[in-house]
Amino acid sequence: MTDITTEFAGLKLKNPVMTAAGPSSRDGMTLLNAAAGGVGGLVAKTVSVKPADVPHPNMAALKEGRVGSRRGILNAELWSELSIEQWLEKEYAIALSSGLPLVASVGYTPEEVSLLGPKLEKAGVHAIEFSTHYVGGHTKIAKALREVVEIPIFAKLSPKGDVVEIAKSLEPYVDGIVGINTYGPCLRIDIETGKPMLGSSDGYGWMSGAALKPIALRCIAEIAKSVKIPVIGVGGVASGADVIEFTMAGAAATQVCTAAILEGHTIYGRIARETTEWLKIHGYDSLKDIRGVALPYMDGSATLTPPPMVDMEKCTLCGLCPKSCVYGAITVDKGKDLFKIDRDLCQACGMCISVCPYHALSVD
Ligand SMILES: Cc1cc2nc3c(=O)[nH]c(=O)nc-3n(C[C@H](O)[C@H](O)[C@H](O)COP(=O)(O)O)c2cc1C
Repeated sequence: MTDITTEFAGLKLKNPVMTAAGPSSRDGMTLLNAAAGGVGGLVAKTVSVKPADVPHPNMAALKEGRVGSRRGILNAELWSELSIEQWLEKEYAIALSSGLPLVASVGYTPEEVSLLGPKLEKAGVHAIEFSTHYVGGHTKIAKALREVVEIPIFAKLSPKGDVVEIAKSLEPYVDGIVGINTYGPCLRIDIETGKPMLGSSDGYGWMSGAALKPIALRCIAEIAKSVKIPVIGVGGVASGADVIEFTMAGAAATQVCTAAILEGHTIYGRIARETTEWLKIHGYDSLKDIRGVALPYMDGSATLTPPPMVDMEKCTLCGLCPKSCVYGAITVDKGKDLFKIDRDLCQACGMCISVCPYHALSVD
C-alpha cells in the first residue's frame, strides 16, 4: 500500500499537498473548498493588523502563445483584504471545521506579529507561518513570534538574498522553513493598449507558477542541505511529478498557489493522486523513500557520457528529440522503424533527455 501521509512539526497531513497563502486561501469558505478538493493541509491568506488595499488589476497570466497560462502569473496582490477581526471571529473557524491542519499566515513587522500571534493561537490554528516578503529582518520577526506563541511557527522566505544564511539564522527560532514567495519585481505590457497589465503604482508585479519552479527547487535543495528542520516547498507545483521533484530536493511537504488559481480547487486531489500513482509505478512505498535523494548528486557527479541510453521499449519514435538536438546527432524515421544517435556528433548536452515525454532516454 502506497503511503503519502506526511508529518512535520507535529502536523499530520493525509497527503503532502497544502494550499498556499493567496487567493485560493482567501477566506474560510475557499479553504473549505480546498478541503473538498482533496488538499492535505491548509495555509490561509496572510493577515496583518490592517486589511490590504490592493491595486486593480492585480493578476495577469504569463501565457504560452495566445492561449493557455501554464507558465504562471504576475500578481500585485498584497495580504488579506479582510480584517483580522473577521478572520478571528469567522474565517479560521470555518476552515477548522474541515478537520484538516490549519496554518495561519501573518505579517509583517516584529511588533505586528507579536500583537497578532497570540490571537491566532487562541483562534485554534495549528501553526503560524510568517511572511518576510516586504520587510526582511527575519530573525527579529521569528524571535518576536516565538516569544508569544507555543504552536509551531514557520518562516516563509523570498527567493531574494542568501536563503541558506537566512534559513540557518532562523533555525533556532522556527519549526520549519517555507520557500519560496514570488520573484520580482516583473513587468508585463498589454500590447493592445500599451499599458502595464497590472494596476500597481509602477505597473510591476511578482512572478509565480511554473516559471518559478526551478528557482524554488534550488532554494529548497540548498536550505534542506543546510538545516535540520523541515522545509516546505512552494513555487510552480501543479502535478504529482512536481511533488516528487520537491520531495527529492528535500521538501517535507508542498504548497500550491498559482496552479490552484488557474485550475480550481480539485487540483489538490489530482496532485495527491498523481503522487501516489508515481510512487506506485516506481516501486516506492512512501515519500520517505525518495526525500532528499537528489541532494548527494549536487556536487558535480550528475554527469553524462555520450551518447545517452535509449530504451526502445519506451521510445515511440515521436520525433521530438531530433528537433531539439542542435548538434544533429539524432535520426528518427518512423517509416523505417529507425532511431539512431551518432556518437561522434552527440555533445552530451542532455537536451534530448529532458524533452522526451516517454522517459525513453537516460543518463548511463
Ligand atoms: C495572487 C497571489 C497572492 C499571494 N498572496 C500571498 C500572501 O498573502 N502571502 C504570502 O506569503 N504569499 C502570497 N503569495 C505567494 C504564494 O503563496 C507562493 O509562495 C508563490 O506564489 C509561489 O507558489 P506558486 O508558484 O504555487 O504560486 C501570493 C501569490 C499569488 C500568485
